[in-house]
Amino acid sequence: MFLRNEWYVAGFSREFVERPVQRWLLGEPLVLYRSTSGRAVILEDRCPHRGAPLSSGEVCGESLACGYHGFTFDPSGTCIHIPGMTTIPARARVRSYTVIERWGWVFVWMGDANRADESRLPDYHWLADPGWVGGSEYLQVKANYGYVRDNLLDLTHARYVHRKTLGTAAVTDHPIRTETYGRGVRVTREMPGIEPSPFFKRMGGFTGRVDHRQRIDFTPPCHVVINTRVSSVAGSGENRSAEFYVLNALTPENERSTHYFWGLMRNFALGDESVTETQQTLNRETFFEDLAILEQQQVLLDCKPVDWKPVAIRNDGGCILAERLMDKLLAAEHDKKEQK
Ligand code: FES
Ligand SMILES: [Fe+2]
Repeated sequence: MFLRNEWYVAGFSREFVERPVQRWLLGEPLVLYRSTSGRAVILEDRCPHRGAPLSSGEVCGESLACGYHGFTFDPSGTCIHIPGMTTIPARARVRSYTVIERWGWVFVWMGDANRADESRLPDYHWLADPGWVGGSEYLQVKANYGYVRDNLLDLTHARYVHRKTLGTAAVTDHPIRTETYGRGVRVTREMPGIEPSPFFKRMGGFTGRVDHRQRIDFTPPCHVVINTRVSSVAGSGENRSAEFYVLNALTPENERSTHYFWGLMRNFALGDESVTETQQTLNRETFFEDLAILEQQQVLLDCKPVDWKPVAIRNDGGCILAERLMDKLLAAEHDKKEQK
């Protein structure tokens, strides 16, 4: 079960081109394309004629022509042309999804189009803020999006999973603070006067001890923004600071697979391309380490005994709060549907 009346990231702007692309979201087949006038369009990828994928067809101006028998659909999903026919059956239409393109990412509202609410668009503005620089990439994870969310909400795993990059023993030595924040959940961990992690030694040039703060904001249904700020300890003789935003949009492909769109933005070395390359490479490697665990977790939890329950500890506070919130929202959306 997924929340439908929410914004999900469907893709990067650069993926919307005049060649249609199929992408499954929330277990539904969608076709993404860019019309000749430059509009990003998302339609149901199942032709109402014989069920062929519209993504095997081609873009004609604003519209998309099915690659099987040429039924042509405009961005509203209305069929505007059937070769050899003068009338078009009323049922010849596909679902069209509400789309907002912003900061180089494309967001889709998966529920009732009349309820699409722009004010609820998740905030990823760092992607286009001149004070920040970085890159964004895609990773497919063969695991439920909730496992990916929990991975990001409990960064103590860095000590073990990311020994070579983000690892620092300090994550397990310093407790988290968990609170509700906006529509979601915030987890904060302050680690004053610690040894910098290999990542920050390399990226920020830190040699001495640092004050390191992690702040993780989860916004339903699947948006996680991590702010990491590292600065030299006062009086250490070093005067450096570095800050990153890790932007994570975890769009369910289905119950067992996640489209993981991530961005990594920094506020220093703004003009240095080589720093961007290094940070992206390090982060990519880091996420591959997560992927290896997450995909195994999915396999093992798929066949768990009926009475198996996870053992929760203090560091799971953020995950537990997020899961409860999602359960509540899912129940509310489901109940509303039942009442109709
Ligand atoms: S299946 Fe699309 S036009 Fe026939
Ligand atoms: Fe990780």
